[in-house]
Amino acid sequence: MVRSIIDTTDLSVEEIDGLIDTAEDMMEHPREYAHTCDGMILSTLFYEPSTRTRLSFESAMLSLGGRVISTPSADSSSASKGESVADTVRVISCYADIIAMRHHKEGAAYVAAQYSAVPVINAGDGGHCHPTQTLADLCTIRREKGGFSGLTVGLCGDLKFGRTVHSLINAMSRYEGIRFVLISPEELKVPSYVKNESLKKKNIPYTQVTDLEEVIGELDILYMTRVQRERFFNEEDYLRLKDSYILTPEKLRSAKKDLSILHPLPRVNEISVKVDEDPRACYFKQVLYGRYMRMALITKLLKEAGRL
Ligand code: CP
Repeated sequence: MVRSIIDTTDLSVEEIDGLIDTAEDMMEHPREYAHTCDGMILSTLFYEPSTRTRLSFESAMLSLGGRVISTPSADSSSASKGESVADTVRVISCYADIIAMRHHKEGAAYVAAQYSAVPVINAGDGGHCHPTQTLADLCTIRREKGGFSGLTVGLCGDLKFGRTVHSLINAMSRYEGIRFVLISPEELKVPSYVKNESLKKKNIPYTQVTDLEEVIGELDILYMTRVQRERFFNEEDYLRLKDSYILTPEKLRSAKKDLSILHPLPRVNEISVKVDEDPRACYFKQVLYGRYMRMALITKLLKEAGRL
């Protein structure tokens, strides 16, 4: 079976550090990588909406000299006729050298990887995980802070359904001296399975609070997230919780001068646009780094699969 990436734990810490090194080299010397993937084809297979992840995968492959195929949406693919994920990836393996897949069901990318003849990269599976967003997050944090060890990381918002949060906790729990501050409404706390596997098992210190202003002064990283409307069972709960946290310049007055503010985007209302001018806001840099991290990951997997 070829190697696929379903979560960040499929990559060792050394491999993640190496991918960031490669991405940084790609940023500095893009022309040297412009033909790395000549003749290769990436298929994007997205069963859920996306702007960043889909376009950054496509931009990444085009920047490496490869090409891209995709269906406009799940509705216009044979998934709408009832074709299974297993059959779909078997078919796409005949057309493409690598697949980036997003699906609304947790575990769908894992199933796809079992049946695919080419590497599958999980581009987000339901409320489970989103490893390439985490690669973008880690690249941003390392560039802003010079490393990961010893940081106090605040995660704020929808920590229950926010798959980027789950992947980031999994990834950062493997570095020394990390402390997490989990800031959410009671109903949107980090799921027990993430706490058990990543935090309790490794004795990583963490606190759970509901008030952002109470803890903002302690944080080195503040990772804001959107309340995930599409995963709620009823609209009333979403409407009650959607504006639980809105980061404003006033709230940032008590934050550290070298705080780094991240957000996987899309943003709805949880960071005021007035914060965008603050030098601590990193979320648009994070988008750019995501493209280079995906370039590095595509290259690595295609090499390992013997296609480059
Ligand atoms: N961050 C992220 O996954 O954005 P998209 O949903 O636009 O891909």
